[in-house]
Amino acid sequence: MTLVKPRWVHVPWIIGAGVLLVVLLASALLPLATGMFDRWTQRDVDLRSRLVFESIREQVADFAAAGDTARANALFDRLTTDQRLVAAGLCAPDSTLRYGSRSMAEIFSCASIPANTPDMARVAVDVEDRVVVHAFSLDGKPNLGRVVIIHDLGFTAARLAQFRAGLIGALVVAALIAAALVAFVALVMARTWMGSLRQAIDDLRDGRAPPSPPSLLGVGQDVRQALDELDFVRRRIDATHTEWTPETLTVALANELPGSEVIVVSNREPYIHNAGKAGVHVQRPASGLVSAMEPVMRACGGTWVAHGSGSADRETVDAADRVQVPPEAPSYTLRRVWLTEEEQDGYYYGFANEGLWPLCHIAFVRPTFRESDWAMYRTVNAKFADAVAAEAKRPDPVILIQDYHFALLPRMLRERLPEATIVTFWHIPWPNAETFGICPYREEIIEGLLGSSILGFHTQFHCNNFFDTVDRFLESRINRETASIAFGGRETIVRPYPISIEWPPAALATQKPIAECRAIVRERYDLEPDTRLCVGIERFDYTKGIIDRMQAVDSFLTDHPEWAGRFVLLQIAAPTRSKLASYRTLQDEAQALALDINSRHGGGKPGPILLIAEHHEPADVFTLFRAADMCLVSSLHDGMNLVAKEFVAARDDERGVLVLSAFAGASRELGEALIVNPYHTHAMAEAILQALTMSEHDQQARMRLMREQVQSRNVYRWAGQMLLDASRLRKRERISKFVPPTTRAPAGAPA
Ligand code: G6P
Repeated sequence: MTLVKPRWVHVPWIIGAGVLLVVLLASALLPLATGMFDRWTQRDVDLRSRLVFESIREQVADFAAAGDTARANALFDRLTTDQRLVAAGLCAPDSTLRYGSRSMAEIFSCASIPANTPDMARVAVDVEDRVVVHAFSLDGKPNLGRVVIIHDLGFTAARLAQFRAGLIGALVVAALIAAALVAFVALVMARTWMGSLRQAIDDLRDGRAPPSPPSLLGVGQDVRQALDELDFVRRRIDATHTEWTPETLTVALANELPGSEVIVVSNREPYIHNAGKAGVHVQRPASGLVSAMEPVMRACGGTWVAHGSGSADRETVDAADRVQVPPEAPSYTLRRVWLTEEEQDGYYYGFANEGLWPLCHIAFVRPTFRESDWAMYRTVNAKFADAVAAEAKRPDPVILIQDYHFALLPRMLRERLPEATIVTFWHIPWPNAETFGICPYREEIIEGLLGSSILGFHTQFHCNNFFDTVDRFLESRINRETASIAFGGRETIVRPYPISIEWPPAALATQKPIAECRAIVRERYDLEPDTRLCVGIERFDYTKGIIDRMQAVDSFLTDHPEWAGRFVLLQIAAPTRSKLASYRTLQDEAQALALDINSRHGGGKPGPILLIAEHHEPADVFTLFRAADMCLVSSLHDGMNLVAKEFVAARDDERGVLVLSAFAGASRELGEALIVNPYHTHAMAEAILQALTMSEHDQQARMRLMREQVQSRNVYRWAGQMLLDASRLRKRERISKFVPPTTRAPAGAPA
């Protein structure tokens, strides 16, 4: 985009030209002024000589008449005590020195006075010796001769130097004053220009009259052209086919929410500092939320407020509990909030992960609700509300609240920062009203969430469940057509925003070619080069269907024993929430099942299931994806599941097969995967066979379409759409302040 520069942008050039003019003037003026000064000083010396002569004239005449040589010489000597007068004396008519100061005979010969010298005259100016000689006839009868007075011109040179320095100084001061004046005028002009521009942009964006000449009066064509270009950018970002990148996201933020401050809040932090044997090391947590949000923060900047859970987290923050991240290239601030063990037990393990997590996932783990957990959940939400309010530098920040750990936070923040734009994203499913209804604190949770300006879910299905839940348990006005809920005098927009990953993924940049990845991984896990590799990579969570996946492998090998010894499921399961019994039980069950299956289908080899309960960093995960023939995602219920999208992103060779649960939100977007019901073991076993026998051509066609999907619907689009909706809502709220309630248009679903 080329913006036309406003006229005041030329001010530096004007100042430069002004300074140049002053320099030119100085160089022209200096010789002139020096000539004038010279003439003036010479006149001054002439005058001095005459005055001296007049003051001694009579005395000299008397001494000459009396022939008093001693007194005459003494008189001339006294004259030379003035340091500018170097010699004086009386030259007789025969051109000999009759009387004189002691210096007279040394520096002057009376014979050098020309015969025709007038009575009072300057006889000589010797520039080299820096002297000027004046001769004055001493009247008398008989002719008494001429009094000679010799001045040193050195003092005039010093005076000239002083005069020059003064003149140059005055010119410089004049130039500076002129530059300051021009700069001041420019500043005033720039302020006026920016004010008009802002007003005009607001008019343009808020759909008021397009910038008309009167609104831009005094600002001119430049502004109008700049506005047209801004409008062009806006239209480009609005367009469905916008290619979302970190840059478009940054532009969207700058254009749509100018000057805004972005604050993200989540429980899990993006960078965990842990103390190890080799010192402090940084861990990237296994969290879909973090993988999605982190690139967005890198693009937008701002502050991320999260629980500091690492063993070396306190050592790495400053006095305000902040640390700049990412460690290798800092671009935003991580503000850590400290939680006591008691707070973690009640808020995180208790209410969030034993209550809301199983409640929302419907994965047949009974939710547990304890009064003490709920109290701690409220306390910690309030603690984060205080931390966010303390971080906010403006009254109207854009706050992006993440996930089920903070259902009460939107309302708490609305009370603390009424002008904030609060966007809450629920990363997990929202169950139907009947299921949610078993939560003893359902009303408070819904009310808390309705403190948001925008509430996002991954799918329309989850939005519908939320509408039903609100409808069932709260007095409010629901407008499904405009996707909004009015409650307590404010409106909340409820929309689906399918989350995604960055494109291209940062972890792909350092990957080796596919063949090398295959060789490295097969060697690392001691697999035959032609072993067909299926990967499953996630947290060790009961919602992920890890047991079901193993059972499908069991079923597959039972039905197709010819694959025994040629097929391996490499299951990477990052231990998570291990303090909870439901998670420990799952880990034990999975280990036992893997042993059992391996003993039955091993055929003397280690067996088809390689279960590794360890956290892997993103780059390692990508190498595994690239080495695999297929990836199995069998979540029993999942908001989106970013592992599926990461597998697709890792396969720039357009090969590999994705087997994906129908109960993961990702299945709505990745229709070319083999979609399975993880509860249907036999069907999943058949899908494994289908994946292993799929032609390369078919693999490529499916993978290509899925990659296009993930590329265009990437995480920048996810964040961008939420921010664009937030911006529209902000403007609408601004306008609605001036519209009487009866005629007020419904907030409406953003475009
Ligand atoms: C899910 C949740 C995230 C959470 C992640 C990891 O993806 O939606 O909020 O961060 O699991 O779980 P953890 O409890 O380790 O943060």
